[in-house]
Amino acid sequence: MKRGDGTAPKPKRPRAARSAFPRTATIRAPARRGNAGIAPTAHYTAQAWVREGFPNADLFDTWMGRALYGVAEAARSIAGPLLPGVMRHAQEYLFIRHHVYEERLRQLAPDFVLEVGAGLSPRGLTCTRERPQMIYTEADLPDMVQEKRRRFEQTSLPANYYLTTIDLLGDALVLPVNPREGQRVLAITEGVTDYLSMEEKAVAWKNLSTFLRDAGGGTYLCEIHPMSQHADSPWVAQVAMRTIGALVGGLSFEGRLFECPEDATALMQQCGFDEAYVLDAASLNRSRHHPPMQHCHWLLVEATVGADSRL
Ligand SMILES: C[S@@+](CC[C@H](N)C(=O)[O-])C[C@H]1O[C@@H](n2cnc3c(N)ncnc32)[C@H](O)[C@@H]1O
Repeated sequence: MKRGDGTAPKPKRPRAARSAFPRTATIRAPARRGNAGIAPTAHYTAQAWVREGFPNADLFDTWMGRALYGVAEAARSIAGPLLPGVMRHAQEYLFIRHHVYEERLRQLAPDFVLEVGAGLSPRGLTCTRERPQMIYTEADLPDMVQEKRRRFEQTSLPANYYLTTIDLLGDALVLPVNPREGQRVLAITEGVTDYLSMEEKAVAWKNLSTFLRDAGGGTYLCEIHPMSQHADSPWVAQVAMRTIGALVGGLSFEGRLFECPEDATALMQQCGFDEAYVLDAASLNRSRHHPPMQHCHWLLVEATVGADSRL
């Protein structure tokens, strides 16, 4: 079997026992521990995916997304060139973020994807429509899943697409369908980790590494916003954190962001990943947007379980 980049995969290690992951759809309702307060930002990003023209994004064109996006656009156009680079290019960095996840997904060419905190992203639907052999499970907290289900009433869903409730901070990630022996597995959290405290990140990452280990190994993708990306103008990070914090119900980002990417990759390894490293987002950017990446406030991080996962 060839991978998406044309290279042959190394042989898989024997699989671990899977007792924690039943094959049937017996879903235990998780305790409402998650961070439902950050949901408005999912509407904002969904609107960004609409504006950028991602396939199927129109299904998630919500009034809340339009309102939030409209206010941000108005503020940006008033302040215009006075804004520092990270704010001037904020929209482009957001579009690029979604594009680079997609590009990395294409390169890894997984058979099975679990995306937690998928919000109103159209990616699962698009991937499963384009690749009937790929299983894509999108998961989120109950209210967001309900909103997404409601929006799916307008369309038909492929048999290889699943939508389920999962709390990253729960005891384990219980899925409606599990990876089969030999499948290449990818886990994603886009736009989620830095809303979590350090303790919550550790719980989430332990859950994700355990899921991948039980699946026989795999790869995890997320983005982080280390303070080191704002070394030139730390006040920009403060303004951005206060604005987003206010939008999501007064969340304080104090202590939530890593100082540098090495702190994030070290925590990932403590949480059960074998390797963790920053990817070169610029080289994964196949979009039409090419702002200077030195102002970009996020870094794309990949972590693997099982030696055969890294390309
Ligand atoms: C900022 S939104 C990002 C949505 C989407 N990934 C995107 O990029 O457009 C964060 C999402 O994470 C979900 N979320 C927050 N805490 C969670 C948790 N503990 N478990 C699962 N999902 C969570 C929220 O409900 C929300 O949909």
